[in-house]
Amino acid sequence: MKITVITSSAHRNGTSSMMADEFIRGAKEAGHEIFRFDAAFKNIHPCIGCAKCQTGDKGCVFKDDMQELNPHLLDADLIVLVSPIYYFDVNGQMKVTIDRFFANNMALYGATKRFALITTMSDPAFAAEGANTTFKLIADLYKWDVVGIINAENSSDVEALKKTDFLKKAYEFGRSI
Ligand SMILES: Cc1cc2nc3c(=O)[nH]c(=O)nc-3n(C[C@H](O)[C@H](O)[C@H](O)COP(=O)(O)O)c2cc1C
Repeated sequence: MKITVITSSAHRNGTSSMMADEFIRGAKEAGHEIFRFDAAFKNIHPCIGCAKCQTGDKGCVFKDDMQELNPHLLDADLIVLVSPIYYFDVNGQMKVTIDRFFANNMALYGATKRFALITTMSDPAFAAEGANTTFKLIADLYKWDVVGIINAENSSDVEALKKTDFLKKAYEFGRSI
């Protein structure tokens, strides 16, 4: 299976990056092909809603690093979003990246895809309710199959995360895909 993992934290070795590492480790052991896109280190312009991407065949007006991600959105069997929770939702870089899915709408609607979400946060899991809702609504919109949500609660930093069993859960999730 082709799996596209999109991370969004600027903490290169932070909690969500570590969750992505463990998911990928498991998924690779299970024989899957991984493409990892670390959105926080990419140049991605926010969508400005000009809708030029919906007319003609030139795609988005911004020819930035989404050009690297787009083919991996289209050919992925599974797309995994991995984000820290910022103010009860995915962080800004993840949202900017998701908004740019718009230029691929026609190809993404109804495409046979699985979809998963991994979040990390300081607070108990209620903090991820916004992100979980957004994620499920996107899955409904595109008619993608939700195969997993891991909300790594009480994980303000790597030391706190290591005291939980969420890294193991991320690995096992990857291994079970
Ligand atoms: C701007 C900002 C907003 C945050 N908002 C929340 C929040 O609403 N709820 C929460 O539980 N943690 C919140 N956090 C904490 C992070 O989600 C947490 O530290 C997470 O482990 C960071 O992941 P990272 O190491 O992958 O960047 C926030 C952190 C920042 C910097």
